[in-house]
Amino acid sequence: MSGLRIVFCSLSVLIPALYSQQVYRPNIPKVWDEKALSDWATPLAGINVRPTHISGAAYYAKAVDDSRTYPVYARGREPQGYWKMLQTVGPKPMLETQKLRSRADWLEAGRRAFNEVDHLHLRTFDPAVIEIARKGESEMIAKDGTIPGIRWVPTAKGVALSFSACSGCHMMYLPDGKEVAGASFFTKPNLPFTARLIPVVQTQLHYVAGAAPIQMGEEPLGMWLYRAYGVPWKSDDENARLKTATVAEYRAYLVAHSRGGAVPRWNGSLLYPAKVPDLIGIKDLKYIDHTATHLNRGIGDLMRYVALVSFAETTQFGPHDMLAEGAQHPKMRRSDEVLYALALYLQSLEPPANPNPKNEETAAGEKLFRREGCAGCHVPPLYTNNKVTLALGFEPPKDAPAGLDILRVSVGTDPGLALKTRKGTGYYKVPSLKGVWYRGHYFHDGSAASLEEMFDPARLREDYQPKGYNPPGQSTRAIRGHEFGLKLTDIERTQLIAFLRTL
Ligand code: HEC
Ligand code: HEC
Repeated sequence: MSGLRIVFCSLSVLIPALYSQQVYRPNIPKVWDEKALSDWATPLAGINVRPTHISGAAYYAKAVDDSRTYPVYARGREPQGYWKMLQTVGPKPMLETQKLRSRADWLEAGRRAFNEVDHLHLRTFDPAVIEIARKGESEMIAKDGTIPGIRWVPTAKGVALSFSACSGCHMMYLPDGKEVAGASFFTKPNLPFTARLIPVVQTQLHYVAGAAPIQMGEEPLGMWLYRAYGVPWKSDDENARLKTATVAEYRAYLVAHSRGGAVPRWNGSLLYPAKVPDLIGIKDLKYIDHTATHLNRGIGDLMRYVALVSFAETTQFGPHDMLAEGAQHPKMRRSDEVLYALALYLQSLEPPANPNPKNEETAAGEKLFRREGCAGCHVPPLYTNNKVTLALGFEPPKDAPAGLDILRVSVGTDPGLALKTRKGTGYYKVPSLKGVWYRGHYFHDGSAASLEEMFDPARLREDYQPKGYNPPGQSTRAIRGHEFGLKLTDIERTQLIAFLRTL
């Protein structure tokens, strides 16, 4: 009897223990945690202050909208009854936490979120825009017949058309239409369907700047651009000229950016591009953005970054506020749960299978990689030392944050993004070289369009014609800096590049 009771007791202890081991209960960090926010951002060069994030109270006052979104099909590919289903299904939640039992469930929810989250502020019911999407005449079609970059959103007011928030920029399509989540959409010169629709919707709804969530006031386009990119603490701020920019001039900047695989985002720059980075491997990187604007201390910071760029953008820099009279921060946000699933998924991203085999040539290239000192900064196995380098001409302040691992050298690339923009911290991080074989644009601004171009000494000449980014109206200029590996023989250069392509 007592023996039985012991068995019974220990079972009753054991069963819940086993059960709770199986059920994955994530410890979800609070996204807009004021303490975590306080030393998250890197101070900006020139004013040496951190951008002011919106307050926790303002963040959590936003209404949660976690609505599911659905793909838009290309002409002739829409399943029977699909449109009718969208009309009747109504708003559905993107994830149901009570149904997520394992880590795998959360990752799958994150995968869906990465594909599904749309720009909450860019939803439109405009029949003309919906008509264009319904026709589905896209040059680019994913393997499953869907059009990248746009989504249907069943809402209480009917079905809206919206735009993919993450996958619109961070999803690469292989030649057969297969998706590689995390790699840049702009790796290849893709023509996104969104290029036709986003400008129309943005203008109608008073938005600008790489799908930025700040709703602008009643001002001309030039003022919108200045508010998105201007740097008022610089006495010689080149962005002042944007105030009178025309639509044609704005387009010319966007075209120039696209040649470097870049899209100008809020607080970024029209004059100094930042290419869309590869998110695969982000888990191991210490800093976020080319200029290390924020620390990546773990999943909470990734969630924070996603919230920041999606619906909590910074508009205040020391005494300067870029928000115009009548302009507004977004009123909606995603739940912390959706952001957690999304960030968990970002941390799990894996590169596509590398088609470049290792052989004698790549072994010779690896030796050169060490001989030329590359491995000092691009340290295996991450192929980055996770440090920041100085932009040309930048002297770090004495009170630089302890969280920054500063390598006091400059590789001498164009200092514009790091010194003359609101993402300008004064630093460029040492990028990882994993995945350079599919990256498609090299340097923070995508000036070089291939590894061959990056390691071609001719790029240092003033009469050189860059194949990647070039400012509007300029055909020749030197691509300066990062002169490592430029003095190799032709054979050595081929070997080094062959090695880099195996990473
Ligand atoms: C309009 C294009 C665009 C969209 C949409 C977009 N991003 Fe980005 N993303 C960028 C660009 C450009 C950068 C680099 C900015 C910089 O370095 O200044 C970036 C940087 C990042 C980084 C930092 C990566 C690194 O290596 O430093 C993360 C993480 C990220 N994005 C995640 C997301 C997620 C998640 C979403 C969806 C909510 C998203 N992005 C939506 C263009 C975009
Ligand atoms: C002193 C540190 C340092 C050394 C040494 C160094 N690099 Fe770099 N590398 C960087 C930094 C910093 C960048 C980013 C510069 C920028 O974008 O402005 C970079 C960028 C790159 C990129 C472009 C990555 C991308 O996605 O844009 C490649 C490829 C690269 N380095 C390869 C090499 C090779 C090969 C060598 C040796 C021949 C080498 N590096 C030596 C610091 C270094």
